[in-house]
Amino acid sequence: MGRPGRLRVAFVGKGGAGKSAIAGTFARLLAREGHEVLAIDSDPMPGLAFSLGVAQSDAGIPDDAVVERVEGEEGPRFRLRPDLDASAAVEAYANVGPDGVRFLQFGKLTGHVAQLMRSQHAFRQIVEELPDDRWSVVGDLPGGTRQPFFGWADFAEVVLVVAEPTAKSWLSAKRLTRLAREDGTAANLLLVVNKAREAGDARLVAEMTGLTVAAVVPWDEDLAEAERRGRPPIDDAPNSGAVRAVASLVADLTGGT
Ligand SMILES: Nc1ncnc2c1ncn2[C@@H]1O[C@H](COP(=O)(O)OP(=O)(O)OP(=O)(O)O)[C@@H](O)[C@H]1O
Ligand SMILES: [Mg+2]
Repeated sequence: MGRPGRLRVAFVGKGGAGKSAIAGTFARLLAREGHEVLAIDSDPMPGLAFSLGVAQSDAGIPDDAVVERVEGEEGPRFRLRPDLDASAAVEAYANVGPDGVRFLQFGKLTGHVAQLMRSQHAFRQIVEELPDDRWSVVGDLPGGTRQPFFGWADFAEVVLVVAEPTAKSWLSAKRLTRLAREDGTAANLLLVVNKAREAGDARLVAEMTGLTVAAVVPWDEDLAEAERRGRPPIDDAPNSGAVRAVASLVADLTGGT
């Protein structure tokens, strides 16, 4: 058997819907399927490192990896140093986590604004210029409606909208869906219903958002417990209903069983 094909997904949704918990678990499981996985957290309020089980303090793109445009040059103000392409930058700056998942963190808000800008440009460039035939990508996008649709989800062939069975959550999911369609985000939009408690929850959220359900993740006390311990769900509760639901999502999207 050859190497599995690659898959690029982005998780979006309201704050607290469960994007990070699901994205981290998804990335780990995808890596176990043999994918070379790059997990990216483009949220300046980080959450993905915890659910992956990667150290986050030393993740990020250092200043000296980025050069400023010189007068008269075209393009963005900052770019990666010319000797670095996207793959080389991933090799150099992404942390290696459990199951071999690479983890790239957008940048911390604590840094200087100029530093954050350098990091942001480099980050965008890496995601845009990844070679086509390498890296499955799992993106954890910020909770708002702003970032996904200024190009941040362009890398993804599947955008997974995470929504809870609450009015607030599906209203934001609906709004995100509309924005994505207006924006012409070519990606396939699918729904992940999270924290489902009752049999009718998934159908309700599907009806309210008009999206097709890709997965139903049950409300799971084990996930809440993993969060309290600061441990990845996949390590802390590998047999929990929530982790199993993410495993079937991975299987569905990769065509596995
Ligand atoms: N299926 C679930 N069952 C129980 N708790 C869950 C479930 N999914 C997520 N949680 C909990 O809900 C909280 C929010 O999850 P998470 O941080 O993944 O959301 P998020 O969408 O990434 O939020 P943010 O937008 O703030 O980054 C966490 O405490 C997490 O442990
Ligand atoms: Mg998060």
